[in-house]
Amino acid sequence: MIDDGFRLLPEQASTHAPRVDLLYFFLLGLAVLFTVLIAALIVYFSIKYRRGNTHVDRAPGSGHALVLEITWMVIPFLISMVIFGWGATLYFSGYRPPAGAMDVRVVAKQWMWKFQHPNGNREINALHVPLGQPVKLTMISEDVIHSLYVPAFRTKRDVLPGSYATCWFQATRTGEFHLFCAEYCGTNHSRMTGSVVVLEPAEYEAWLGGGAANESPVEAGKRLFQELRCAACHMPESAPVRGPPLQNVYGHEVILKGGQTMTADENYLRESILRPGAKVVNGYEPIMPSFDGQLDEEQLIQLIAYLKSLATP
Ligand code: CUA
Repeated sequence: MIDDGFRLLPEQASTHAPRVDLLYFFLLGLAVLFTVLIAALIVYFSIKYRRGNTHVDRAPGSGHALVLEITWMVIPFLISMVIFGWGATLYFSGYRPPAGAMDVRVVAKQWMWKFQHPNGNREINALHVPLGQPVKLTMISEDVIHSLYVPAFRTKRDVLPGSYATCWFQATRTGEFHLFCAEYCGTNHSRMTGSVVVLEPAEYEAWLGGGAANESPVEAGKRLFQELRCAACHMPESAPVRGPPLQNVYGHEVILKGGQTMTADENYLRESILRPGAKVVNGYEPIMPSFDGQLDEEQLIQLIAYLKSLATP
């Protein structure tokens, strides 16, 4: 059971959580400091310049006070730059998964969360993860915008239809933690909840072994790749070579028609399967048929997992 005893902040259960809280308390402290300072000055000046007090100088000011004006511009500027730099650093560390993170695929739909582990285990509205290991979530929606939110990890990311979003976390304590949808997505939005269960690595291994034997996403992707006859054009042994070879594409630079280059990530691969004409690799003709409507999100994820497995990092 999840411990829902009264507390001001959720538990800190990931490496990211204490760092987010530190920034939060810094902002809170700053707000309190200025609130108290301004309130105290209001009270002080109200008393000092009250009607009838003849012991104060009420002569008009002498126009500009340059030093004072520069001070009240420079100090807030420096404070806001500190907030910006600090926040941006935290954001990047929170949304750029470290290399070697465990890959979990997430498909959201009205109104459930579907998870698949690297070995193929699937679960719905629950996610089991090992303690102390970075876990990367690659997430997509089958319908509307959802948002994956785990307060104890201080992790929240919108899950969009049509494009992969990623986030990652590393759990620092075992237990069960809330998982919410944080984007209004229809009638049962408030019930689109679940839990993240953090297990000791050995327990996690045991849990994986206990699930029904599944094809891993890579194996399922390989099977799809064969069924859809992708190799007929894309593998170097096929002649004539009509499509670019797919080994070492994921994570590498590709040169597009027109000389543009880009890094082939999950979203590029997805687009190239569904809208092959959008970004054609230099030296090839746009002859590939679209697979839009023939593959569901989970099959697309599997194909991409297989393409990913063909690349060396
Ligand atoms: Cu899904 Cu709100």
